[in-house]
Amino acid sequence: MFQCTKSLSRVFLLLLIFKTSHGQYSPGSTFTEDDATNPSDVESRDVGTELQYKYHDHEEMTRYLRAVSARYPALTALYSIGKSVQGRDLWVMVVSASPYEHMIGKPDVKYVANIHGNEAVGREMLLHLIQYLVTSYETDSYIKWLLDNTRIHLMPSMNPDGFLISREGQCDTIHGRHNARRYDLNRNFPDFFKRNTKQPQPETEAVKEWISKIQFVLSGSLHGGALVASYPYDNTPSAIFQSYAHSPSVSPDDDVFQHLARVYSSNHDKMSRGVSCKSGSPKFDNGITNGAAWYPLTGGMQDYNYLWHGCMEITLEISCCKYPLAHELPKYWQDNKQALIKYLAEAHRGAHGFVMDEHGNPVEKASIKVKGREVTFHTTKYGEFWRILLPGTYRLEVGADGYLPQEVEFFVIDSHPTLLNVTLHSAKRIDGGGPYYRPAPRPPPPPAPGLFSTFTNSINSFVSNIFG
Ligand SMILES: *[C@@H]1O[C@H](CO)[C@@H](O)[C@H](O)[C@H]1NC(C)=O
Ligand SMILES: [Zn+2]
Repeated sequence: MFQCTKSLSRVFLLLLIFKTSHGQYSPGSTFTEDDATNPSDVESRDVGTELQYKYHDHEEMTRYLRAVSARYPALTALYSIGKSVQGRDLWVMVVSASPYEHMIGKPDVKYVANIHGNEAVGREMLLHLIQYLVTSYETDSYIKWLLDNTRIHLMPSMNPDGFLISREGQCDTIHGRHNARRYDLNRNFPDFFKRNTKQPQPETEAVKEWISKIQFVLSGSLHGGALVASYPYDNTPSAIFQSYAHSPSVSPDDDVFQHLARVYSSNHDKMSRGVSCKSGSPKFDNGITNGAAWYPLTGGMQDYNYLWHGCMEITLEISCCKYPLAHELPKYWQDNKQALIKYLAEAHRGAHGFVMDEHGNPVEKASIKVKGREVTFHTTKYGEFWRILLPGTYRLEVGADGYLPQEVEFFVIDSHPTLLNVTLHSAKRIDGGGPYYRPAPRPPPPPAPGLFSTFTNSINSFVSNIFG
């Protein structure tokens, strides 16, 4: 048993190293022999179908994650994106039918919890989500579809140091909110609207590097202290009296963000009722709010995800009490389970596809803009892009250095994602340094109008139900 597990963990390390050599983001770089699963962990109590409703401290959480990754090697991969100020690993568990490798053309999504160390419910919810996903794959056709078509990255704690000093039962204090250097990590990201002068913290730097290496399509950041799904922007360009403004700071994808927030709140057992947590605290219509309309903040994670990396992130406030007693955890899991799952499936809404050159090679870092939505997304190294959109007709503007810009009209329907392949033609400078670019000779025109837009037929009949 000992030998067997030991060699398994070697294989695991080799896999991670193998991935590095192929240039994909490899969390393996932070792995050492020490971190590999050891046999006593595998036999820990939390293994298997049992995950207790209790708060897991960092060591217990680590043991649980390792045990799950040992028990479900085909569905999970555990990696650390870096360490906290005090040296605790920032664990991420991937749950997917392809845990070690990005599935080309299929979205990566994530949840990050416990960014505020004393907001503890999300941390346990993600452990329960892991447990639920791995134990439902064989029996639940919807979960199987989701894991076959999505890579789900779950970070139960972005602030393990803050969690350590937080206390169960404390609903409203800020003790434990910050990292070990007393920085609020959700004020520590670069900001589009205001200069963020806060010194970048290791936890934030690790997340920034992580999301620069994996193109996440959709994300949720789990918090506590309110019951609402809050969407970008969190910050606002208006300078004066900003914290009293209470006016929305509207992004070009406001319709999409409102929809995403509603998917969470309406699949949550209570959130969409919009009841205030206690007298004097705000009520939220349908359980959703624009971030800045609630209160503006600088350096938040969700605006950064969207504006820097084209990742649609919203902030999920899932408990009125920041750190409720453990015996309430079953109730929180029941409240959030459906919402956590349905929200992630939204990564399959809208349009996605590939940008290629005339020879069919992927074009990396091509700019992807939906006309009228002045935020630029970019293609991955495989030429992939995703754009979550509600039903309608759109124009896509695609550009890349050395290519002629291209516009493609397409439409999005409710029940299926639209697959949209775009071919770019190289622009060759032919008049000796003048300011003009002329097209290279064009290949014969494509047979049908609408260029290469077409509906994907690769997804089975579940897809019509995925947004249910
Ligand atoms: C779109 O491009 C991808 C990647 O090259 C390819 O696998 C897929 O078959 C293409 N689909 C269509 C409908 O052209
Ligand atoms: Zn918070």
